Amino acid sequence: MDVVPLHPAAALRNSRVRDALGRPLHDLRISVTDRCNFRCPYCMPRERYHEHYRFLKSAERLSFEEIVRLTRLFVQLGARKLRITGGEPLLRAGLTDLIGDLSTLPGIEDIALTTNGVLLAQHAVALRAAGLHRITVSLDSLDPAIFARMAGDLGSPTEVLAGIDAATRAGLTPIKINVVVQRGVNDHAALDLAEHFRGSGHIVRFIEYMDVGSRNDWHADQVVPSRELIARIAARWPLRATDAQYRGEVASRYVYEDGAGELGFISSITQPFCGDCSRARLSSDGVLYTCLFATSGLDLRAPLRAGASDDELLALLRDCWTARQDRYSEQRGHADRHGQRVEMNHIGG
Ligand code: GTP
Ligand code: 5AD
Ligand code: SF4
Ligand code: SF4
Repeated sequence: MDVVPLHPAAALRNSRVRDALGRPLHDLRISVTDRCNFRCPYCMPRERYHEHYRFLKSAERLSFEEIVRLTRLFVQLGARKLRITGGEPLLRAGLTDLIGDLSTLPGIEDIALTTNGVLLAQHAVALRAAGLHRITVSLDSLDPAIFARMAGDLGSPTEVLAGIDAATRAGLTPIKINVVVQRGVNDHAALDLAEHFRGSGHIVRFIEYMDVGSRNDWHADQVVPSRELIARIAARWPLRATDAQYRGEVASRYVYEDGAGELGFISSITQPFCGDCSRARLSSDGVLYTCLFATSGLDLRAPLRAGASDDELLALLRDCWTARQDRYSEQRGHADRHGQRVEMNHIGG
C-alpha cells in the first residue's frame, strides 16, 4: 500500500502535545540575554546585580543557530507564538538576524518582543524589517523621579516614550505598555499613565507585583489588587470588561466606554490564570522552564552540544511538557516549595 505523505500543516497539527493537566504548548518565550541596562529593584536589584555579578558569558548562551533549531522543534509540538525577552533583549548583538530567521519559520503566527524601550528608537525600523510583528514596552511611570526609583536610576521616561514613538512609526503595533504596580511607589501615578495613552491606540497593562525569583524581597502588602486599580480608573473614565483575544490570555481586557481604547490587568496574585497556561520559557543558556516560578528546568544546551538528533531533542521536549503539572499562582501560599526560584532576568517574565 502506498504511504501518503502528510500535508505539512497536518503534520504540525498531529504532533501537538498536552501537559498532565491537559494544557497545550502554544507560546514559547525565548530569553536571549540575562543582562539588562536597567536595575529595577523588583527584578535586578543593584545590591545583587553589581559589577562583580557573573552574567553568562557568550559561549554559555545559546547561539542563534541553536535557538532556531530548538524553536523549530517547539513548533512541531504546537508552539505558534514567540516572544523574545531578556534581561533586555536589545542588548544582544545581531538580534535582528535572529528575528529574521524565527519570523520565517513555518508555523509561527505571531512574534513579539518585550523591551524596556531605551534602545528601541535605534532598532525599531530594523526589527520591523526583519519580521517582528509587535512590541511590548515596560514603563512603570511617566514621573521622572518615580521612574528613576523603579528602574534603578537608569534611563528616563523621555527615552522610553521616544522608543514607543519610533516603534509606532515602524508599524510594530499594537503596542502594549507593561506597568508593574507597587503600592506606595507608583500606584498613585497609574491614572497619569492611563490618561497619557488614552486615545493613542497603545494598550496599557497594569501588572500585579509578583513574587518572581528570590532576590526582590517581595511582600504581599506591596501588591495592589487589580480590582482596586480598576475601580480607581473606572471612577474617572467608565470601563467595560471585554472578551479575551485568545484562550489563555494573561491580561483581563477592559475598554473605555467613551471609545478611547483598551486597558489590560494582569492579576497573577489575586486572580491566577494557570488553568489555561500554555507558555514554555527558554533561558538564554538553554534551560527549558515550564513555569515562571519554577525551581528547576530541563537543560537543553548539553544534549544540543553533545550532538543529539532532532528526534532525541523532540523526545526530551515532549516528555518534559507531558509531565508538566505547574500551577504555582493557584497554589501560592500553600505550596510546599523547596529550592530557589528562577530569576526574572533569566526567563524574561
Ligand atoms: P501578549 O501576547 O501580548 O498577550 O503578551 P503576554 O501577556 O503573553 O506577555 P508579556 O511579556 O507582555 O507579559 C506581561 C506580564 O505578565 C509579565 O510581567 C509577565 O511576567 C506576566 N506573565 C506572562 N506570562 C505569565 C505566566 O504564565 N504566569 C504569570 N504568573 N505571569 C505571567
Ligand atoms: N512582578 C511583576 N512583573 C514583573 N516584571 C519584572 N519583574 C516583575 C515582578 N516581580 C515585568 C517587567 C516586564 C515584564 C516582562 O515583567 O516590568 O514588563
Ligand atoms: Fe531589566 Fe526588565 Fe528586569 Fe527592569 S524588569 S531590570 S528592565 S529585565
Ligand atoms: Fe503558568 Fe506558572 Fe504563571 Fe501559572 S504561575 S500561569 S503555571 S507560568
